[in-house]
Amino acid sequence: MGVDTRIHWPSPELVAMWAALSAIGARPGRALDLGCGPGTEAMFLASMGWNVVAIDRDAFEIGVLNARRKKLPRKVASRIEAIAGDGIGWREKKPGTFQMVHDRLLLSNLWDSQGVYARNVTDAASRRELIETAAWALEEDGLFVIRMRQWSDAVEPFEPPTGHDTLENRDLREADRWFDRGPELGYLGFSTPDGAKRPLKRLSLSIQVWRRNSRRQASRKG
Ligand SMILES: C[S@@+](CC[C@H](N)C(=O)[O-])C[C@H]1O[C@@H](n2cnc3c(N)ncnc32)[C@H](O)[C@@H]1O
Repeated sequence: MGVDTRIHWPSPELVAMWAALSAIGARPGRALDLGCGPGTEAMFLASMGWNVVAIDRDAFEIGVLNARRKKLPRKVASRIEAIAGDGIGWREKKPGTFQMVHDRLLLSNLWDSQGVYARNVTDAASRRELIETAAWALEEDGLFVIRMRQWSDAVEPFEPPTGHDTLENRDLREADRWFDRGPELGYLGFSTPDGAKRPLKRLSLSIQVWRRNSRRQASRKG
């Protein structure tokens, strides 16, 4: 399995992410990529100088990432640590050591996931745990970069909304405990380029950047 060459790299999506990060003056540090899949973002961030811890609970996806990064310059590849495991409640020894937590379509998939992402808790509980994990990992002023299927009315829709993927008030209350939330920016993206033979699907996506707002400590779990 290799990189999907039907999408030019860097794709418009990655350019959109980079523009959003540049606009707020983000500088490379440590990044935690939760639900990294085949690692497109992890590799992009590493190529921009970030040291990335990339986690996916699917060992197959981690295998794809490891195969793909062999094609990167050694210096860039060495900036990626790939871990097969549960990212939603993930904890390192010490809190507050990351400058970025990145999530493309993990939070977004925690709606009606019918067991695909099941962790013996509801999707709603997983969404809030994911937000808390990001808060735990980030240093003060660190960035939670969230890429979702577009959910707010503030962005011109590219396609009719599906009616789910809506952060609920409970999610936003959890977010507001730890983060200053930024605006949602919409753009056109594609389904994950993982080299599979299925047709590429256009997706109406968005990016939000939340900033960790205090030294208050999120609770340790696991
Ligand atoms: C829609 S895919 C997105 C993959 C990648 N971020 C991308 O955009 O290409 C969601 C990913 O989250 C992973 N995932 C689901 N539940 C997870 C969990 N509890 N911990 C870590 N990864 C998880 C899945 O295995 C899948 O690779």
